[in-house]
Amino acid sequence: MNNTIVVVGTQWGDEGKGKITNYLSEKANFVVRYQGGDNAGHTIRFNNTTYKLHLLPSGIFNPRIINVLGNGMVINVRNLLKEIRDLVELGFSCTNIRISDRANIIFDYHLLIDGLKEEGLGDKKIGTTKKGIGPAYTDKIARNGIRMIDFIGPDFRELFREKVNEKNEELLRYNQAPLDFESLYQEYSQIANIIRPFVTDTISLLNNALDEGKKILFEGAQGSLLDVDFGSYPYVTSSNPSAGGVAIGSGIGPTRIKEVLGVVKAYSTRVGSGTFVTEFEDEIAHYIRETAHEYGTTTRRPRRIGWFDSVVLNYSRMINGLTGIAVTLLDVLSSLKTIKICTAYELDGKIIRNIPAAITDYDRCLPVYEELPGWDEDISQVRSFEELPINAQNYLKRIEILTGVPIVMFSVGPDKTQTIIRKEIF
Ligand code: GDP
Ligand code: IMO
Ligand code: MG
Repeated sequence: MNNTIVVVGTQWGDEGKGKITNYLSEKANFVVRYQGGDNAGHTIRFNNTTYKLHLLPSGIFNPRIINVLGNGMVINVRNLLKEIRDLVELGFSCTNIRISDRANIIFDYHLLIDGLKEEGLGDKKIGTTKKGIGPAYTDKIARNGIRMIDFIGPDFRELFREKVNEKNEELLRYNQAPLDFESLYQEYSQIANIIRPFVTDTISLLNNALDEGKKILFEGAQGSLLDVDFGSYPYVTSSNPSAGGVAIGSGIGPTRIKEVLGVVKAYSTRVGSGTFVTEFEDEIAHYIRETAHEYGTTTRRPRRIGWFDSVVLNYSRMINGLTGIAVTLLDVLSSLKTIKICTAYELDGKIIRNIPAAITDYDRCLPVYEELPGWDEDISQVRSFEELPINAQNYLKRIEILTGVPIVMFSVGPDKTQTIIRKEIF
């Protein structure tokens, strides 16, 4: 059995990564977030209670599991504190958190600039979560960020003063009032005092753990088509959610990563702007949205709905090196007469099976569909592949063939118990 596994979103996020990670985490010693920030919204349901996580990894509920916020993350420390406090109030100790000393911090000015940039883009806006993700990663790459080690260190005051001065000049260019350094500093330095004990060298922690034979589960946020390198640029997030991001965002070398599990929604959804070839908006889309509560976990925006897209999945298989897939939300498709699967795109009269790099080309792609018969039965109580109606089995088999990756697990409802394992991988 493998001792490292990556759980990665294969589409545009919200595939059910939180649920799948939480399920698999029972066998893990560590769960690690390696990129993104609180733009993520991961939903987990067990013991009749639903939890929504944004920054904390999905193994947080089990005190035995160490939950790591990796160096590749951008962390809004105020929101982190709130997320921790909310869980402590619910009775979870949250002492099982470790934060990378190299992670970058999201400050208030990043959120303000995110919003102002979006406004400036007018109808070309990305539709970001306005959590400051883009501006924080911009600062990181420009070598202008503040990292956790500096945030909790003795020079934070001076460093932060410099940044606030610089950002106030930027805000002035947007005709915005400047931020008050002193009050912000007071608040942030209190936060730094609280989170200091959690901050550590997570790179050594994780590598030593692997040397000792411990098991690590990496939890992706967002999805492969939102990857800044591989996604539908510029309508992407500013990090690398795909499996390659694990090495960079956690300090685990690529040769140590054994298994990459792609989480696949049985249909497609997308929040925010950008090409979405299989999108449709009719009474079926409405039915799917309401049945699955397809509204953003972080922003509450209604999610756009589309059919399953095997061009996207093949691309995801390539860029992630998928070794298995977990199909989620299969139950949502019950009662549809027929279900469409996109097998190729038509671009200017030509059939293609790749994703064009130019957004203007991708925008012109039309879906080529095949149509499979649906099933009427409620499958939410099904606990094995064989119990599924034959048409649901055939739908999964078709996905498996078109994607070329085995379905190692699938999910028929939001609850932890509604998860079916076909092959043990971890
Ligand atoms: P993530 O961001 O990938 O973790 O996914 P989200 O939590 O944002 O969105 C997935 C949504 O689907 C959540 O509301 C989950 O509770 C829900 N969910 C996950 N798996 C299933 C499933 O198999 N069936 C149904 N009906 N809901 C599911
Ligand atoms: P989880 O982890 C779905 C989308 C935003 C926007 C784009 C850029 O829950 O799957 P950003 O705020 O990151 O700069 O926004 O990415 N987006 C997500 N969509 N699920 C997410 O996370 C997302 N995180 C960001 O809607 O289109
Ligand atoms: Mg989500």
